[in-house]
This record gives sequence, structure tokens and C-alpha cells, in this order.
Amino acid sequence: MTFELLDQLARDGFEEIVALHDRRSGLRAFLALHDSTPGRAFGGIRRWSYYDEASALRDCMRLARAMTYKCALAKLPAGGAKMVLLDRPELDLEQGYRFLGGVVERLAGRYYAGPDVGTNSEELARVAERTRFVTDPGPEGPGELAESTAAGVVAGIAAALRHLDGSEDWPRRTIVVQGLGEVGSRVALALRGWGARVLASDLDSERAEGLVRSAGIERIDPSAEFDTPCDVFSPCALGGILHDLSVLRLRARIVAGAANNVLASPAHGEQLHERGVLYVPDFAINSGALIRGARFHLDGVREPIERIAARVGSVVADVLAQSKAQGLSPARVAEREAEMVVERRRSER
Ligand code: NAI
Repeated sequence: MTFELLDQLARDGFEEIVALHDRRSGLRAFLALHDSTPGRAFGGIRRWSYYDEASALRDCMRLARAMTYKCALAKLPAGGAKMVLLDRPELDLEQGYRFLGGVVERLAGRYYAGPDVGTNSEELARVAERTRFVTDPGPEGPGELAESTAAGVVAGIAAALRHLDGSEDWPRRTIVVQGLGEVGSRVALALRGWGARVLASDLDSERAEGLVRSAGIERIDPSAEFDTPCDVFSPCALGGILHDLSVLRLRARIVAGAANNVLASPAHGEQLHERGVLYVPDFAINSGALIRGARFHLDGVREPIERIAARVGSVVADVLAQSKAQGLSPARVAEREAEMVVERRRSER
């Protein structure tokens, strides 16, 4: 007898998966609680028009687990969770997000909801009507979330360059930034500010054009992202972009960016390693907003962005140093490290 979903929950250490339906708003959603052993789990609400139910659930579970790993590497006393909301024409957005607020409230602080693709200040304000356990989008909240993520990504890129070459040497670097949204635009501007040559792309050509003109960033077509020779390829768009074909096309020495679940599968982390490309694991480098939000909710402080950058930079440097010492891929090292933290926490309870 096989229990596909239940076996996977056991194998990957999930606590709970909840399927949600609300007749009033037409909402259909999943909540995955991966680890709330430390007392609470953090994770955003993603709204996306998924191809089918299985891909929505898979995304939800992968993102929840990645949040646990992010917390573990960032040494935060929290675990990971995620909600995914299936975007479809029947969905009444305002009512749907209010409904999710009620779901979060019933968990009584075991899960804190936050922003993600498709869920920003406006949507979170609806969630906040029904629960306190949400990263407040307004001035009362932690603030500067995308700024924190971007600062961490830049610090992680710097750590990777120092790991390979001993110094950042920005003016001699060429960096390709994929995606000029909330995080990517800030990463591109910061790197340009350090004097690097920055080539950037966005599917939204207006967005790209504005930034390119004002800041001396060179625009490339999204179809050329993987084929452009560069020191660093910084994925700041969507996940799953490093797969069988793109790994072969990639002409970068380093991959380091904000996007969650960049690797289509763990095997692609190994492939990059074999090809001599230094891959900085996404959950090691993109934890800036999580650190900012978690510190705010757990300790009531807005951790300064420079401190967040230093924390992320040191996590990345540590993963890369261990990878070199152990002869394992950075992806494998980071996963093992995170799994050890989670196991230790669970056995102590
Ligand atoms: P965003 O939605 O503001 O920006 C994403 C941009 O990527 C959009 O402008 C979109 O047009 C563009 N894009 C999509 N596919 C593309 C492609 N193939 N080539 C070029 N451009 C493409 O999202 P945001 O907030 O900047 O986040 C970026 C990534 O970082 C997402 O994967 C997100 O999950 C992840 N992340 C974001 C955090 C944050 O603090 N905002 C925290 C941790 C991870």
C-alpha cells in the first residue's frame, strides 16, 4: 500500500498540510506547516495561477520547507510554513484574504503570515483585519523587507567573490541580474553603485527601461540571460529556472540571487558543482526579509540593514568554506546544516 502524500510528509518532516476552501470568496488554498517546533513558523502567502492542484501543493510544500531551512541557517528560533492561494477569476480577493486572516488567527501564533509573490501590502492589510499574526504592511510593521533581502543578496555575492578570488574587486566584475522587481532592482542599483558592470533583464520591458536609463545599467533580453558571460548570475525573478537546459547554457562563475527554489531539483545543484559553477544556496542568501520580520516579531526590534547584510554574508561565507573543506556542493552542505539544526531542535523537545 502506498500513501503518496502522507509518506512525503513523513519523509520531509512536515507537521501539517491543510486544504482550504471558502464558498463566500471562492478561495482555494493550501497551508503547509513544515516546522513550528520552536513555537512559531514564518512564511508568506503566494498567490499564483497554478496549472493544477498538484503543482500548487508541491510549490507550497517546497516553499514551506525552504522557510524552515532559512530560519535554521539564519539561527532564528522559528520554523517554516507557507500558504499558496490559487488565483482564478472566481476569487474575490478582499474576502479571500480576510478568510485567510481567520485561518491564521485560529493557529494562535503558531504561524505568522507575510508577503510573497502576489501578496503585498494591500492584500496583507485584509489579512491583518482578522489576525495579529501577520507581518504588518504599514508603518507599525518591521518595514524595509525588500531592502533587507537585497542587502543580504549583495553581501552574499560579495562573500562568494571573496571565496573564489580573495576580494570583491567590483569594478572588474560583470553581473547579470534576472528580474528587476522589488529585490532585483535594488540589487542591480547597489552593485552598480559599487562600480560593477550590471546587465539586467525583466519580462516587463517598461520596468527594465526606466531603471536602465537612470542608472547606467545595461539592458539585456530575457532570452539572453543564461548565455551572457559574467562573473555572477543573480536570479531575482521566479524559482525553478536552473534546469537541465539552462544549467548547460549558463556562462557564469557564480549563481547568487534572491529567488526561492532556484534549482528545479536538488540534482541541478550537483550539476552546477560538477561544472565548476559556485552556487550559493537560495535559502542561505535570501533570508534578509525573514531576519528583519522575525526579529521584529520575536524581539520587538528593527534589525539594522547593515547588520542583516553582515549576518547573511557570514552564513554564505561559512557554507562555502565548509563546501570547500568537505568537497561537497554548497547546496548539499547548506541542506545538511539546516537538517541538523532542525533535528537537534526536535530532539530537544
Ligand atoms: P517581484 O515580483 O517584485 O519581481 C520579480 C520580477 O521578475 C518582475 O518584475 C517580473 O517581471 C520579473 N521576471 C519574471 N520572470 C522573469 C524572467 N524570466 N526574466 C526576467 N525577469 C523576470 O518579486 P520580488 O519581491 O523582487 O522577489 C523576487 C524573488 O525573490 C521571488 O522569487 C521571491 O520569492 C524571492 N524573495 C523575495 C523576498 C522579498 O523580500 N521580496 C524575500 C525572499 C525571497
